[in-house]
Amino acid sequence: MKTLILIGLFVVSALAAPRSGYEELELAKKCDKELCQLPNCRCSSAGIPGGLNAKDVPQLVLLTFDDAVNIANINYYEEIFDGKVNPDGCPIAGTFFVSQEYTDYSSIHSLSSKGHEIALHSITHQTPTGYWRNLSVEGHMKEFADQRVLMSNLAKIPKKSIQGIRLPFLQLSGNNSFEMIKKADLKYDASWPTSKFLWPYTLDYKTTQECPIGPCPTASIPGVWVSPMTYWKDDLDVWCSMVDACVNIPDDVDGLLSFMIRNFESHYLDNRSPFGFYLHAAWFGRNENHFTAYLKFIDYLQKFKDVYLVSLQRALEWVQNPSKLDNLKNSWPNCQPRHKYTCEKHTCEIRKGEEYRYMTICGTEDDCPEKYPWVFPEDP
Ligand SMILES: *[C@@H]1O[C@H](CO)[C@@H](O)[C@H](O)[C@H]1NC(C)=O
Ligand SMILES: *[C@@H]1O[C@H](CO)[C@@H](O)[C@H](O)[C@H]1NC(C)=O
Ligand SMILES: [Zn+2]
Repeated sequence: MKTLILIGLFVVSALAAPRSGYEELELAKKCDKELCQLPNCRCSSAGIPGGLNAKDVPQLVLLTFDDAVNIANINYYEEIFDGKVNPDGCPIAGTFFVSQEYTDYSSIHSLSSKGHEIALHSITHQTPTGYWRNLSVEGHMKEFADQRVLMSNLAKIPKKSIQGIRLPFLQLSGNNSFEMIKKADLKYDASWPTSKFLWPYTLDYKTTQECPIGPCPTASIPGVWVSPMTYWKDDLDVWCSMVDACVNIPDDVDGLLSFMIRNFESHYLDNRSPFGFYLHAAWFGRNENHFTAYLKFIDYLQKFKDVYLVSLQRALEWVQNPSKLDNLKNSWPNCQPRHKYTCEKHTCEIRKGEEYRYMTICGTEDDCPEKYPWVFPEDP
């Protein structure tokens, strides 16, 4: 019976698919500020949403971590976030761009229960980067839309709570990944570096962002948000999009802390566009001063009454409905959702090629995937 339904679906989608199943997109036009208005459209610009003044708006800080979440890094995350609150009393939060391989789904459940955002970073995270550059819309659906379902099932978190993606190696593929975001009913991308202090914007109209790791999208893809990754500058003014890729940095705690503060101030004392601290937890293992400096930097940020450490989704909520510091309830009526930890851990043993992989999930043996989650280009 199941097979029949599947065959039926396949025939229908094949019939409805003249050219790989997706209609031609229109070329994006120059942004028209009259037509493109919040909450669902924003021209790409350094202008503060709502036309507000920098000193009246919260400095949003985006702490993000990429790749697998597991025993190698979960303790760092607990130490960074647990027990800390923003000036409005809501817990501080980060965004985790999770890749499938080696992820412990009970840890994903735990992060989500504490109000952190879980986002997508692909099932395979495979090399070479050319794979991502060439990947079709269908390929992106398998890597990201399928990962969303997988993660929701294995970590027992709501599918709707997962809304964003970061592409492996920040490798764009023209319109394709963005078209996938729209098709899969996701909300935003956070893979696109820039030297400009841009606020998040939508792809309804032509972007003004430069294209360092192209091809970049040129089609109009209405309602899809871009959260630009504004570069940091290292001590020799060399740009870096991920902080762990900054080369010319000190290795002592005080030096590292000043390097972080200097980059923070470039946003805080300018247009207060969201300040992203984009990392892999592996950076903490490279030199113990990295983690000490990071914790000191969080403490430093927490002294400000106008600095908010929020998930990317919550940052977008503010952008879509901007309000002044004295009226933030207007943008954020409530704290971000949290839930009880209800994960019943189970470790699955699954064959991947010649080896066995152990995968901890929330559920029972019945919930274990039959095959190790992976994507093969030749899959129908
Ligand atoms: C990407 O596409 C180009 C052009 O078709 C091709 O030469 C290249 O081998 C592809 N790269 C990968 C990794 O598939
Ligand atoms: C994106 O879509 C536009 C509009 O259809 C098209 O002109 C452009 O070539 C596409 N970009 C790529 C890299 O395929
Ligand atoms: Zn990665």
